[in-house]
Amino acid sequence: EVGLRRQLIDVHEAATQYFEAALKAPEAARAREYLTGRGVTVETIAKFRIGYAPDDFNHMREQLAKHFTDEVLRASGLFSAKEQSDGGQGQLYARFRKRITFPIANEQGKTIAFTARALDAEDEKGRPIAKYLNSPETPLYSKGQVLFNLDKAKAEIRANDFALLVEGQMDCISVFMAGVHNVIATSGTAFTEMQIRLLGRFTKNVIVNFDPDAAGAMAAEKSIGLLIEEGFVVKVVTLEGGLDPDRFIREQGITKYQTFGYYATSLRAAIRHSDFLIDRARHLFPGRTSDAKVKAINFLLPHIRRMPNRIQRDEFAADAAQK
Ligand code: UTP
Ligand code: MN
Ligand code: MN
Ligand code: MN
Ligand code: MN
Repeated sequence: EVGLRRQLIDVHEAATQYFEAALKAPEAARAREYLTGRGVTVETIAKFRIGYAPDDFNHMREQLAKHFTDEVLRASGLFSAKEQSDGGQGQLYARFRKRITFPIANEQGKTIAFTARALDAEDEKGRPIAKYLNSPETPLYSKGQVLFNLDKAKAEIRANDFALLVEGQMDCISVFMAGVHNVIATSGTAFTEMQIRLLGRFTKNVIVNFDPDAAGAMAAEKSIGLLIEEGFVVKVVTLEGGLDPDRFIREQGITKYQTFGYYATSLRAAIRHSDFLIDRARHLFPGRTSDAKVKAINFLLPHIRRMPNRIQRDEFAADAAQK
């Protein structure tokens, strides 16, 4: 008997091909227009195996059921089950519908899950829907243990001895297709210890380029803390104009991104993580009152304590005190 894990890998490959084919079908005209509108080329679609989940509850299940057992389909996370009043196993239906699909690959490049973007901000009845929907936790996939694009980026991360870390998969794809290949994405969550250990096998240097908004700054702050604890050297880039890396590259061009940011083996405009955090403290607790200063220092102290190296810790503390 073939193990469940192996079958789950196979069903994810089959689903990847299903979605890829669906993106080429006549029904997917809007999805293709959406991607074209965002500057996603045919080359990018092929490279990242981007697809489309049609507006259909049953078709993919019917197709996959020809080759996979109900148990495998249930365990895959590709389907939801209708609630049964008696608590029994309900009928399966497609989890992802009317969405652009992005395979999430393991380090070997095998699809183990999907994230899927809605084409619209609202459903047919005008109710807001989640922009991105992800596979649930399965025997193959645990969100906190995967880094998006690590399979394609790992060789260049090692060669350059640093990783560029962005939030979203579209950011990652745009940066990668623009020629910066050592880029990975956290997929909107704060970094986990598992992800950091995974990355630590390739480099101990990270440049964080999260969205220049409140959510991005919070996620950066959390990720920096964990990275420093694990002995990484961290720099931070904040793009101007409120644009995330994907939009920045689309609106300002890769050259601007590269000179603003990416340059040789480091991002030119990247600042030390301590300077990022001091700026952040000044932004969160503005003013020159002693109350604001106390709050700012209390915000920074845990970060200062975290620095594993005494000299750097003293330097961070001196900078914080001075500013
Ligand atoms: P953003 O809201 O910045 O999305 O969330 P984005 O990456 O710029 O998406 P586009 O450009 O509008 O397509 C950052 C990341 O947070 C996760 C996704 O991984 C997203 O890329 N996220 C966001 C979710 O998981 N679910 C959501 O509903 C929204
Ligand atoms: Mn390259
Ligand atoms: Mn954002
Ligand atoms: Mn964004
Ligand atoms: Mn975006």
